[in-house]
Amino acid sequence: MVDIVLLGVPGAGKGTQCELLAKWLSLPCIATGELFRAAVEEQTELGLRAESYIDKGELVPDEITVRMMAERLARAECAQGVIFDGFPRTVAQAEALNTILGDLGRQVDVVLHVAVSQSSVLMRLSGRWICRRCGRAYHQLYNSEEVLGICDVCGGQLHQRDDDRPETQRRRLEVFLELTAPLLEFYRTSGILVEIDGEQDVAAVHRDLRQAIAAILVEEPESWLPGSGHAA
Ligand code: AP5
Repeated sequence: MVDIVLLGVPGAGKGTQCELLAKWLSLPCIATGELFRAAVEEQTELGLRAESYIDKGELVPDEITVRMMAERLARAECAQGVIFDGFPRTVAQAEALNTILGDLGRQVDVVLHVAVSQSSVLMRLSGRWICRRCGRAYHQLYNSEEVLGICDVCGGQLHQRDDDRPETQRRRLEVFLELTAPLLEFYRTSGILVEIDGEQDVAAVHRDLRQAIAAILVEEPESWLPGSGHAA
């Protein structure tokens, strides 16, 4: 069993890497941004509450986010561990996650900080296209689809996210520095933070993430349940 947190500025490549790691480890990837966007699309009560925050590039309040995450973690598919993408994003969320996992007899095993400069993420966010159906991210320069405007995986239409508008991008980066960057110190102090060079191409970042995770699995083999396609 292993619980992994991916940390990084908006556009660092968390979603891209979460998808690759989820396949490698046969674990679910839980992306709070994806969950919120699905709720907005379906116009659920959660979606209606989250929409105004997302549109402005602000964080959805902790109490809403933590409740949604606790419900998700109670599902059977999360019993063998999870890769968290975009959660936690505040120290209060990190403390809540420790409590939720602690109640399940688990803990955050490793926090992988995908470090990317501000100029690179602005390039990545402005050229990003997302599949409407499965949420996969493409980039017009670095990671493009085979048939223009169509998802390679599910054939869905690609579109640009509303919160990738330049003014919202800027606010999301400010919010990261103000509310999420303190988490780096929080996890560094816990001794579970690993820095990853996110400026490299997708394959090289993935290789480094795998190495960091493999090191944890070697250190704590008893916490890992083999036999379900998990690779060390
Ligand atoms: P969320 O969806 O989590 O957005 P984010 O953190 O801003 O991250 P992104 O999805 O924008 O980027 P990413 O790091 O996943 O990068 P990606 O792989 O797409 O959150 C959206 C909103 O929801 C928040 O603003 C907030 O309102 C709310 N929210 C979410 N979680 C919350 C929480 N915990 N608490 C409160 N509110 C919350 O890559 C970006 C682009 O770069 C793509 O085009 C990709 O193809 C390309 N790319 C990826 N890797 C590379 C590479 N190595 N080289 C070149 N290009 C690359």
